[in-house]
Amino acid sequence: MRKAVLPVAGLGTRFLPATKTIPKEMLPVVDKPAVQYIVEECARAGLDDVLLVTSTGKAAMEDHFDRRLDLEAALADKGKDDDLAAVRELAELVTLHAVRQPVPLGLGHAVLMAAEHVGDESFAVLLGDDIIDPEEAFLERMIAAHERTGRPVVALLEVPWEQVSLYGSATVAPGEVDGEYLITDLIEKPTREEAPSNLCVIGRYVLPGSAFDVLRRTPPGRGDEIQLTDALKIMAHEEPIVGVVVDVPRFDTGDKLGYLQACVELAARREGLGPDLLAWLRGFLAEHGA
Ligand code: G1P
Repeated sequence: MRKAVLPVAGLGTRFLPATKTIPKEMLPVVDKPAVQYIVEECARAGLDDVLLVTSTGKAAMEDHFDRRLDLEAALADKGKDDDLAAVRELAELVTLHAVRQPVPLGLGHAVLMAAEHVGDESFAVLLGDDIIDPEEAFLERMIAAHERTGRPVVALLEVPWEQVSLYGSATVAPGEVDGEYLITDLIEKPTREEAPSNLCVIGRYVLPGSAFDVLRRTPPGRGDEIQLTDALKIMAHEEPIVGVVVDVPRFDTGDKLGYLQACVELAARREGLGPDLLAWLRGFLAEHGA
């Protein structure tokens, strides 16, 4: 498997006004835009062909992963070798492609925009809002589960019951392997009463190329949009699909609290930054009686 699809066409309304002119995927988490964590995750998992599904106002992402010769020359002149390497490496991470989703008709529709580029190969879909712990090889485990079973594979997270309406919720049976479930049904953004479980799909999917045919015949669902969850549901009704339990840290950077948590935790791990941040945090918490 070599290809990954990143649906990044959304408006990012939860972060307005910051996202009026800046794609939400370009908001920095410490010193890298959120989308860089996702592209680095692809590269680590051996997915070196990454397709961005973008929309108007999202060109900054393509620029970010391109060469920037004037900046490189300025950094070279000043002898800033580390910065120069960091800027150059971005263009070498993966081969980046982009396609537009001209109208916002849903996540399933966004993924369908990748059909021509992907062809009939298996591929991964990574949603930009979810940063999975960069020190864990979670995507690799999903790819291995797909290679073992030939079935679509999704990441399943146990979420608090009051949050199930934000996700796709799964009906599950025990899996063949520890840490995996077989999914027999799915429902997109159910009420708490409708939800079959609090095991919910988060932003990682490994799909066979045949998923595009299913998406083509998936009728509009919740919000009158073509939902990826509904296509997965069709596939799960034919034969159970696989859910790999997210047992590693994951940050929902699409949410303000999750975004701040990602910034703090990932900064705390950085050499040359973490110890000072933690010392300041200890004082801050003491001052606020925590
Ligand atoms: C999408 C999917 C949903 C999934 C979620 C994970 O929703 O439609 O099934 O649970 O991503 O983050 P969105 O968050 O784009 O509204």
